[in-house]
Amino acid sequence: MRKAVFQLAGLFLFTLMAAIPSIAVPGTIKPGEPWLDDRGQQIQAHGGGITFWKGAYYWFGEDRSQTNDPDKRYVACFSSRDLVHWKFRRQVIALSDPEHLGPRWVLERPKVFVNSRTHKFVLYAHFDDARYKLARVMIAVSDRIDGDYHYVKSFRPLDQESRDIGQFVDDDGSAYLIFESRPTKGFFIAKLTDDYMGVEKTAFIQAPLEGGAIVRYGNLYYVIGSHMTGWRPNPDVFATAPSLAGPWTEFKDIAPPEANTYNAQSTMLLKIAGSKKSTVIFMGDIWKPKELWDSRYLWMPLDMQNGSMHLPPPQSWQLNVKTGEATILK
Ligand code: GAL
Repeated sequence: MRKAVFQLAGLFLFTLMAAIPSIAVPGTIKPGEPWLDDRGQQIQAHGGGITFWKGAYYWFGEDRSQTNDPDKRYVACFSSRDLVHWKFRRQVIALSDPEHLGPRWVLERPKVFVNSRTHKFVLYAHFDDARYKLARVMIAVSDRIDGDYHYVKSFRPLDQESRDIGQFVDDDGSAYLIFESRPTKGFFIAKLTDDYMGVEKTAFIQAPLEGGAIVRYGNLYYVIGSHMTGWRPNPDVFATAPSLAGPWTEFKDIAPPEANTYNAQSTMLLKIAGSKKSTVIFMGDIWKPKELWDSRYLWMPLDMQNGSMHLPPPQSWQLNVKTGEATILK
């Protein structure tokens, strides 16, 4: 009997040790391929954003699951410690047309900010009618990161038309919304007020772009955006400035223009500040307008030096979130 117990314990130890190396091997990000969550389902977080909170990353985005009620709009939340393996938390928003905008009303590009003063989680999203004429943002608030988020209001930030939105949290913790304003042909950068329930003007960048995102890297701010071709991909471009207020450089291509951003459109620039280096990840959506639920993700580490930003051709790659090192697999 005792011998059997020892044998069993030995077997258990052996199995455990054999499993450890595989735990240590970093996972691989495969741009464009179906990205499955812990349930084996395709991650539904389109036009999304990442919120880092208490040692984990939370990915929020449009949930376009085929099983959703077509009258409601959904935001899903996933969590991860390595940015590769994602646990489905829940649908944090399952909202019925709160302002009676009619069928095909729009809730897109949700982004979540953590307010350390109020201890609230504040979700911003593009809020619109079927013809994209309302051009507002909406705010929903939760006491927990993974919801439920309750609809609070919608408005035009700075009294401007606002369609695609992006989020940016600076190294000092200040939170900003970047939004596209068509009549003024440019991006507004707007700092969130202390309670995050409104915004104040920080800067305006003249450039008729959308899919806006910002990152701070070294001594520079980088802004990225796509041209306005709806769901169709086009060449994303970037500009830099020493401060958010500018002056901003001219916009330049992030990849050969004929590549059309490898069929993706920017949604966020995510900086991983590791112990050895900082890596900025281009997060983009490869939209499939007829099957939005099957839209894919293009995440790649950007090549950034001396004020340039280059998106390499999509390849499988690995990331060490501790050191900040990214390895593109050949
Ligand atoms: C894109 C925009 C998407 C979605 C789409 C609708 O330009 O980036 O978020 O609004 O248009 O056509």
